[in-house]
Amino acid sequence: MTAERTLVLVKPDGVSRGLAGAILARVEAKGYQLAELKLLTATREVLEQHYAEHEGKPFYEPLLEFMLSGPVIAAVFEGERVIEGFRSLAGATDPTTAAPGTIRGDFGRDWGLKVQQNLVHGSDSPESAEREIGIWFGA
Ligand code: PPS
Repeated sequence: MTAERTLVLVKPDGVSRGLAGAILARVEAKGYQLAELKLLTATREVLEQHYAEHEGKPFYEPLLEFMLSGPVIAAVFEGERVIEGFRSLAGATDPTTAAPGTIRGDFGRDWGLKVQQNLVHGSDSPESAEREIGIWFGA
């Protein structure tokens, strides 16, 4: 099998809470290879491209505002089935119900805000991964 790549974002809640190192360490400890890494504050333009498929959904604007609220870490990890593996490691979208042992389940909860502060993003398919890596890191 050919090794895959995935885009991982540590969202502003993960960075501001000082969890970036712990989150990246979990991905490395599972055996995936870090290939690219940067800390940046996203622009609205980048986020509009990244979340294009969700435009019009009720959570779209709150999600963009949350993602603009502070620095994020963008990383590329490589490995066999890394897309599926990282999403399993991240856990369910809602951190309140994400399984213990997952990043969201162990580090996340509902903070009573109208955004999903769920710490991480991971690409959901090889096509999304290549598109998202292009958005965050260029061709
Ligand atoms: S959907 O509607 O099934 O496509 O939603 P899902 O795949 O679970 O999530 C898509 C991205 O939107 C984020 N999300 C939310 N953000 C804020 N508020 C609410 N209520 C909400 N619901 C979903 C979710 O975390 C996904 O973002 P990423 O960055 O991919 O994790």
